[in-house]
Amino acid sequence: MDSILVTGGGPLNGTIPIAGAKNACLTLMPATLLSDEPLTLTNAPRLSDIRTMTTLLESLGAEVSALSDGLVLAMSSHNLNGNRADYDIVRKMRASILVLGPLLARHGKAVVSLPGGCAIGARPVDLHLKAFEAMGATLELRDGYVHAEAPEGGLRGGVVDFPFVSVGATENALMAATLAKGTTTLRNAAQEPEIVDLAHCLQAMGARITGEGTDTITIEGVDRLHGATHRVVTDRIELGTYMLAPLFAGGEVTCLGGKRDLLEAFCAKIEEAGAEVTETPEGLTVRRGTGPIKAVDVETEPFPGFPTDLQAQMMALLCTAEGTSVLEEKIFENRFMHAPELIRMGANIDVHGGHATVHGVAKLKGAPVMATDLRASVSLILAGLAAEGTTKVSRVYHLDRGYEHVVAKLRGVGAQIERVRDDG
Ligand code: EPU
Repeated sequence: MDSILVTGGGPLNGTIPIAGAKNACLTLMPATLLSDEPLTLTNAPRLSDIRTMTTLLESLGAEVSALSDGLVLAMSSHNLNGNRADYDIVRKMRASILVLGPLLARHGKAVVSLPGGCAIGARPVDLHLKAFEAMGATLELRDGYVHAEAPEGGLRGGVVDFPFVSVGATENALMAATLAKGTTTLRNAAQEPEIVDLAHCLQAMGARITGEGTDTITIEGVDRLHGATHRVVTDRIELGTYMLAPLFAGGEVTCLGGKRDLLEAFCAKIEEAGAEVTETPEGLTVRRGTGPIKAVDVETEPFPGFPTDLQAQMMALLCTAEGTSVLEEKIFENRFMHAPELIRMGANIDVHGGHATVHGVAKLKGAPVMATDLRASVSLILAGLAAEGTTKVSRVYHLDRGYEHVVAKLRGVGAQIERVRDDG
């Protein structure tokens, strides 16, 4: 297993290219199952989660070719030969559940393992299943698997009223509804840029969708979808992560391809903390102002609110802010696993339920740390950029799920960071 060594030091200056969004790509890939014509994605991120989704799609009979060094994914589902997503793959990655909607819509049948809990919470899939029921599907839970069956003649349009916002359930329902008979309305739908990106891809495939990016999405089912080529939207979480880097270490970094409307709430919050953010046609440039970073309170919320996927990174920044910050995690029940690791680096944090109170300290100190999910891992790397001495972040496989070339990207702006192989 590998570790990352990061040594705190001087300012970071330069540009960082931002990849296509992991979480968009992970829902765009299963969309190939909806059509027997090819779907090609460009601007795909090179990540282990993408390889896991490739393995899952291939296990169903889809063909997936990674071209141009993995930036292009050429997929075809003309020859599907399975409708079962095995536990062995699903347990590695929860997004595997996103094959359920497309399989059910195209084949009328699907058997998909329940993902189970994960490091950041229980994460059930009941909302996904309720959406399929509203489209007439019969669902049975047996041996750890969801056995789903569409009614005679296929899924029917219906009204899906989500009791709270779920990104994955919105995506699954949206994909399934494209081939259902009649009109489907998704109420209290997620509005994340990744949902809008999925809707645009499905529209390019011939789907009839309106209202994407609002809380009500309407889908008029069509008989079949055709092939398309689609560019994956910029990864707003990778973007936000690297926008924070100069706030830790000083300097000025331009994140190429970044757009403020992907991250408005986050930009406003870091500006409140003392960042200067400028938008240019090239991307977003962030500079640390002259004064210290100031404490701010943060509540995570569905889009357009502050993203839960940037909470760990923001907490790391606030560890050395002037004053006390309160972070409230409202999406996942157990997403403060980075706090004890930051405390090992000298942070002063109290976690109580869904709140974390961060009392700013003057400086963090390098330490060996590890994390249980990818956002927590990257928050420790960011903390290491400003810490005194060297921080060793182990369990790097979490990072490989969501950040491509993290070492090269940070070295490119002057960070002292390297990846090393652990002995034994
Ligand atoms: N939930 C339910 N029942 C459901 C679905 C969700 O109770 O059927 C709960 C979840 O347990 C959670 C909340 O609803 O407490 C929101 O979950 P959501 O369904 O929105 O999340 P997701 O689709 O499983 C995606 C991202 C996550 C990101 C969340 C929230 C992908 C592949 N994953 O997960 O990304 O945190 O939306 O924005 O798109 C990450 O990239 O690090 C990551 C965890």
